[in-house]
Amino acid sequence: MMGGVRMDKVKSLVVVGTQWGDEGKGKVVDYLAKQADLVVRFQGGNNAGHTVVYGANIFKLHHVPSGILNPGTLCLLGNGMVINPLVLIQELDELEKRGIGISNLRISGKAHLIMAYHEDLDEANEKLLGEKKIGTTGRGIGPAYADKALRRGIRAIDLTDFDRFRNRLSEILPLQNRLLEEIFDHPGYDLDQLADRYRSALEKLGPLVTDVSLLLDDNLRSGKKILFEGAQGALLDIDHGTFPYVTSSSTVAAAAATGTGLGPQYIGQALGVIKAYTTRVGEGPFPSEDNTEAGEQLRQRGNEFGTTTGRPRRCGWFDAVIARYAALINGLTGLALTKLDVLSGMEMINLAVAYRCNGKEIKHFPMSIEELKDCSPIYESFPGWDEDLSRVRRFEELPAAARHFISALEEAVGVKVELISIGPDRSQTITCPGSRLVDWIEPEK
Ligand code: IMP
Repeated sequence: MMGGVRMDKVKSLVVVGTQWGDEGKGKVVDYLAKQADLVVRFQGGNNAGHTVVYGANIFKLHHVPSGILNPGTLCLLGNGMVINPLVLIQELDELEKRGIGISNLRISGKAHLIMAYHEDLDEANEKLLGEKKIGTTGRGIGPAYADKALRRGIRAIDLTDFDRFRNRLSEILPLQNRLLEEIFDHPGYDLDQLADRYRSALEKLGPLVTDVSLLLDDNLRSGKKILFEGAQGALLDIDHGTFPYVTSSSTVAAAAATGTGLGPQYIGQALGVIKAYTTRVGEGPFPSEDNTEAGEQLRQRGNEFGTTTGRPRRCGWFDAVIARYAALINGLTGLALTKLDVLSGMEMINLAVAYRCNGKEIKHFPMSIEELKDCSPIYESFPGWDEDLSRVRRFEELPAAARHFISALEEAVGVKVELISIGPDRSQTITCPGSRLVDWIEPEK
């Protein structure tokens, strides 16, 4: 027993990104969420963009966990998130229009809100940085987290009462307006007009606000299965990522505890979603980036264009230095390897096993961006395969060259691949022999 919850009853899994985001977490979470009672987001906001293909339907989700597509799954937005109420209500309207109920969604009262001025400040900051810009998604993420740290944010609990919301805004807006007007040459906002813009969001979201920590505790006590859905990836983590080219939240598995209000002992397995190659959006060094025909092939075949911004993603080879680092900072217990099908037709496949940095070979991920800029990848190359993988359903049916690549990757990373995705559809998912995800995978019919 720990804190009143029987630990042998705890069934939880956290799914995190291991690269620079866009690893295909949405698809993996959606697949595993079928067996989950709850799906919980714990960081980030609408900078995330998950595309989930469900039959003929394509859903683009930004705040809402992909579990919303499974009727009966409780979906929670944790306190570690930043939420744009105006965007969230659009997302909910869109889901409802397409017949997906939202009565199972709950929002932590402690989550902070992304306000209109945060989006302006994000854009203005980027402009000010010029060539040194971060390449943010422009969704106001950084300014919203900054206001949280500066203790001048508005929280979801303030959505439960219009007067309270307006009051809070009235305390904060004069300062935001001064910033906008004096530094960024922006006209600023009128208090009443701005507060009014949020009226319908308050009506729709207010009733969904709850104490997520308490709700999770209740569910843990009754043996419910909880899936924590990470957004972005290890290298975008505010502490451990490629600072300053990072997002403003903790993206690692441990954040599932602080970002929901649970103790760390309740975070069970940590599954790292990893693409069979690497992509990055925004600025910053990327050692295994490939600017030749091979990189372009990965971009086109993998449809590597941003869900949130439509930007073409930078593409390159699988980097085991990054993957080992992600395993370390997350405590990964397994990997979900995605987009393996995209590698079909490549003559040779490269895998970075180490870096050459200032004339020395290094196997660890460097701490500073300056050092990372000097790193070039040391590759091992593997023969490719021509077979189309999209119809493969069992590990043994994969071409020998693909299986060889996977075992070399596991060896280089030191973590087992438990799940393989070979296409966007739920059915295009392979469970590897010996996978410990049995509790989370629908039994074969
Ligand atoms: P922000 O999160 O909008 O502040 O952007 C900071 C950095 O994180 C930029 O390089 C973004 O491109 C990147 N980023 C944020 N969210 C995602 C995501 O969901 N996928 C990939 N990159 C992201």
